[in-house]
Amino acid sequence: MMSAQQIFLRDAMRRLNMTRDSFADRIGVRRRALDTWLLPEDSSEFRSMPGIVEKFVDEIVQREAPASGDTQSVHTSLRERIAVEGKPQLLSVDQFSRESLEDLFRIADIMQPIARRQKVSRVLEGAVLGNLFFEASTRTRVSFGAAFCRLGGSVCDTTGFTFSSMAKGESIYDTSRVMSGYVDALVVRHPEQGSVAEFARATNIPVINGGDGPGEHPSQAMLDLYTIQREFSRLGKLVDGAHVAMVGDLRYGRTVHSLIKLLALYRGLKFTLISPVSLEMPAYIIDQVERGGHVVEQSQSLEEGLRGADVVYATRIQKERFANEAIEGYTPEFQVSQALINRVCDAGTIIMHPLPRDSRPGANDLSTDLNHDPRLAIFRQTDNGIPIRMAIFAVLMGVENQVQHAMRDVTWRTPSRIGPDDASFDGLD
Ligand code: NCD
Repeated sequence: MMSAQQIFLRDAMRRLNMTRDSFADRIGVRRRALDTWLLPEDSSEFRSMPGIVEKFVDEIVQREAPASGDTQSVHTSLRERIAVEGKPQLLSVDQFSRESLEDLFRIADIMQPIARRQKVSRVLEGAVLGNLFFEASTRTRVSFGAAFCRLGGSVCDTTGFTFSSMAKGESIYDTSRVMSGYVDALVVRHPEQGSVAEFARATNIPVINGGDGPGEHPSQAMLDLYTIQREFSRLGKLVDGAHVAMVGDLRYGRTVHSLIKLLALYRGLKFTLISPVSLEMPAYIIDQVERGGHVVEQSQSLEEGLRGADVVYATRIQKERFANEAIEGYTPEFQVSQALINRVCDAGTIIMHPLPRDSRPGANDLSTDLNHDPRLAIFRQTDNGIPIRMAIFAVLMGVENQVQHAMRDVTWRTPSRIGPDDASFDGLD
């Protein structure tokens, strides 16, 4: 399982912005030794890091980590640093700095043994989550619910407009205020951009944006970036300087809107945006990313755009957002398939998708012929939704410092690999 040693070393590498190779060099140990310290405790090759190395790493982090001079983070909790008008809410990735994001990732690392069903925690015992989903959802709704339950809380769900009082003309203000009397936190998904912020203004309990129309999907972007960092750690890469190719519906796809802004907190990235002209990324988002000093290229050729990419992020065409517009130009040339990946990418590329992928013929979404390719990270992404959403709840509800000391062993058994096609490195990094 993920040990305190792994959490400590991962956090140190993140803060120092170093690959495993450069970190091993910096602390004067062999890469192989570092790898054995980073293995799960129950692996036969796991080794304990000597106390003297731990002390040395701690000193280096104190002295050299770019954020360690930031006094704000020493005196202010993450909950306060990301607050919206003083309230603990998660509406947009714009609430985050690189440092606060990496603080959240450290908390997600702490959650891993619970997410992997090795430990249980009851820190949210008695708390109730309200899941208000006015749009289709499987993973976001269930993973937020499961994350809350795994921290000891309980969940009440409502789905769609038909069975809610909004079908009777109730306002967002009234719905939000009423729900606040029943539950301790709300996750809201709604088809209109800005609507979740409206829910948030009408209450003082934590509100999380589970997707507001074509606006944002902040928790998805966080789990995506967390996945990228974990995959890069294994591959010896850094987010700084990476080449990220985004493919598909970049106009209405809220996941890519949040993800590109979050990645822009890092340095010197190159983005290749590949979509038909009618589905291009909104200009205000591209401007924001370019102002951050990144290179953004737009292309309609998948073959050229994917060449040399470290990350290929494919998306589904958001058909539900095209009122009566025809979807023009989404032809098979936009499909990310095994043959294409083999032609233009190398072993160090990772292939991602927020899911669901449209697997119906003619949809031209991410091809299922990649299912056995270990570069396909889509299920590692969905798995990471649990520790990230647990971390978000823990921060917004102020229990993040209690979790590590309040874990017990599980009493039931789970398979060590959840899916039959999971790559052998899954869970071992
Ligand atoms: C996405 C969404 O709802 O924005 N799904 C998800 O939450 N992972 C992507 C999509 O529906 O295409």
